[in-house]
Amino acid sequence: TNVPVVTIDGPSGSGKGTLSRLLAGALGWHFLDSGALYRLVALAAMRDGVPLEDAPRMGDLAASLDVDFVAGSGGTQVVLCGDDVSLAIREESCGIAASKVAVLPEVREGLLARQRAFRRKPGLVADGRDMGTVVFPDAPLKVFLTASLEERATRRRKQLKEQGIDANLHALLHDLAERDARDAQRAVAPLRPADDAMMLDSSGMDIQTVLDQVLEFVSARH
Ligand code: C5P
Repeated sequence: TNVPVVTIDGPSGSGKGTLSRLLAGALGWHFLDSGALYRLVALAAMRDGVPLEDAPRMGDLAASLDVDFVAGSGGTQVVLCGDDVSLAIREESCGIAASKVAVLPEVREGLLARQRAFRRKPGLVADGRDMGTVVFPDAPLKVFLTASLEERATRRRKQLKEQGIDANLHALLHDLAERDARDAQRAVAPLRPADDAMMLDSSGMDIQTVLDQVLEFVSARH
């Protein structure tokens, strides 16, 4: 299609989520949080008692997920089978479960059409791990956002603290490193930059600087 897409891929805690939301807001484009879909598949399976390693059932679940993203004043509300699960899917345990179901080709395949349906006028900012490599390989602008493991863990701890959760930095470092390894080493759609991706290391950069840099990339493509 000729609807433009900016893909933002990278490891957990690199600031992709914040950057993608701000970028979509600045451009007035739609926003796809693909990680939320993997989190929703994991949550739905845990609620329905489907074993996370049961690939065929997990694939069916992914393809038939009953989910709604409702835009509101306090941000986007995520509704699964009529339940508001906006907070539940953000829990660390759900992120870890998501990275386990994300290794299943059946689940990735089951989510593909749903992700591509987000590409509507006037444009889309897509946040994930394989947006530039698999889901939108023809995207005119692909960004791969990284940051050091220490910085990502520190940011994550700050984020949790704002939600009133006290997390241990060492435990966070360990969880992030484990999740990165699982995402980078899986056979299907591993976390890696597309050949034509712009690499951006956000270590030591504040979010506004990162956003300005990406907006420059965007205007250079138009
Ligand atoms: O980005 P977020 O932390 O919400 O993603 C949760 C997990 O979902 C990731 O650790 C990754 O395993 C998986 N994921 C993926 N492909 C995407 C987005 C997320 O495999 N495009």
